[in-house]
Amino acid sequence: MMNSSFRTIVFDGEKLQLIDQTKLPAELCYLVVNDEQDAFQAIRSMKVRGAPAIGMTAAYGLYLGLRKHAHKDHEVFYKELYVQSVYLKSARPTAVNLAWAVDRMVAVAQRHPNDLVATTLERLKSEAESIQDEDERACRAMGVHLLEFIKEDMGILTHCNTGALATSQYGTALAGFYVAHEEGITIHVYADETRPVLQGARLTAWELQRAGIDVTLICDNMAATVMAQGKIQAVMVGADRIAANGDTANKIGTHQVAILAKHFHIPFYVVAPWSTIDPKTQSGLDIPIEERSAQEVIEWGGIQTAPKDIHVYNPAFDVTPHELITAIVTEKGTYHPPFKFL
Ligand code: MRU
Repeated sequence: MMNSSFRTIVFDGEKLQLIDQTKLPAELCYLVVNDEQDAFQAIRSMKVRGAPAIGMTAAYGLYLGLRKHAHKDHEVFYKELYVQSVYLKSARPTAVNLAWAVDRMVAVAQRHPNDLVATTLERLKSEAESIQDEDERACRAMGVHLLEFIKEDMGILTHCNTGALATSQYGTALAGFYVAHEEGITIHVYADETRPVLQGARLTAWELQRAGIDVTLICDNMAATVMAQGKIQAVMVGADRIAANGDTANKIGTHQVAILAKHFHIPFYVVAPWSTIDPKTQSGLDIPIEERSAQEVIEWGGIQTAPKDIHVYNPAFDVTPHELITAIVTEKGTYHPPFKFL
């Protein structure tokens, strides 16, 4: 079942196309990814973004990049596989789904070391397609699980974009909103605009409005006000990496929303596929946090919004400590504190 009239990642067996998310909401257009370098650039520049979406893009990018080496001998091909996988994993550091997807591709090749290069390529292609198919099923399942917490007429605050644009379909936190909508449950979504890249304003507002879901855009600094006014009964957000103890990295600003939710006694749900859980990361302290360019903060659309040469600090993610999280919803079900993912 499909929830939206667009697909973020389209692979037809030959060609990979991605919605260029930097053009939204003004324009819905696709860019073509021909190889690992195009995939890397699309991820780094956030033309494609969202933890599951960058993982899928990297998986396809690796297949497409290796297809250029189909005629090479076995040893050269495998060397290329390792070089490209390291390169793709370095595109963005925080979302573990990127490394997870690339490692899964490499493991497929490693499991069949004696295959012909052509056979390995076929295996890589079908693994990338499986990652996408599984993501779609996982997103739908998370949406269904979220129904336990979504009630008629509820106000729900969300941060960043965790929708169909960030995944294959449905999204993670937004999957709950789409499934509720399909079930005829009325909800009132409040979308934080999510400075500095405006994923809430440009992407969440766009996709929910397009789906006919009641969505109200607020600036990031208005969250306390709408909570104090009793407009919010739950907060639902995504995740880029969940540590073994439940600490969760997500878009910058998520932590302050979690603190506010605690203050106002509002439940705070994290919604993410199993691939976002990183058992090798013990706690939030071990999660690498991406820092992005000052340009994102001091200008918008080419217009300067701060003094030139001002000092800027621009971490793209923050970590919400597990104590502030009411529950973590995955496709496998809902986890309550103390978090143990076995
Ligand atoms: O920098 P972005 O836009 O890639 O950050 C995205 C987020 O933080 C999302 O909340 C997260 O990836 C979950 S997407 C289902």
